[in-house]
Amino acid sequence: MAFIIAIDGPAASGKGTIGRALAADLGFHHLDTGLLYRATGVKGGDPVAAARGLVAADLARDDLRSAEAGQAASRVAAIPEVRAALIDFQRRFAMREPGAVLDGRDIGTVICPQADLKLYVVASDQVRAMRRASELGADPAEMLAQLQERDRRDSQRASAPLRPADDAVVLDTTDLTIEQAVAAALSAVGRRRAT
Ligand code: CDP
Repeated sequence: MAFIIAIDGPAASGKGTIGRALAADLGFHHLDTGLLYRATGVKGGDPVAAARGLVAADLARDDLRSAEAGQAASRVAAIPEVRAALIDFQRRFAMREPGAVLDGRDIGTVICPQADLKLYVVASDQVRAMRRASELGADPAEMLAQLQERDRRDSQRASAPLRPADDAVVLDTTDLTIEQAVAAALSAVGRRRAT
């Protein structure tokens, strides 16, 4: 059976970087599920139809990483029918052999509650805003306000709100380098694979 790693956490906490590095190290597949919501948000028109009709080209757009796409994503992500339209694709992806790493907001709680390892990645608001501002060449204060607005919307929505699964391992990357964060995640994988 495929080994499934679920990584959740608030915006810009390091989920994507850790997810990519884990997948590369373990030879697993990696899915950044935020891209599905970003692609749905930027597509325009009826968000439910947009989610149902997503094709590979929608996920290859070069504007998905922008702050505007992030905001659009978190608005459409609160719509239950949008989330429902994206479940099957994510669950099928998670079954890919020899294993898969999925990062998002509800992977450990809703998409893959049976995941072999659940990581919940956090970092202080200030550090997250600095990281995202330098990635996008944006103003840190503006980034901070945007991330906090998105986190609030993501945690307070009724449908699959952002929260750690009861059995998640919490990883705080505030004072960690990327290498240290990846090493901590890999040792959590090692502990889980040994059991
Ligand atoms: O990279 P960052 O953490 O900033 O965001 P992302 O993972 O690309 O997600 C963008 C938005 O999509 C989030 O703010 C959520 O509203 C939504 N999302 C979600 O609801 N569920 C997921 N599994 C992944 C993303």
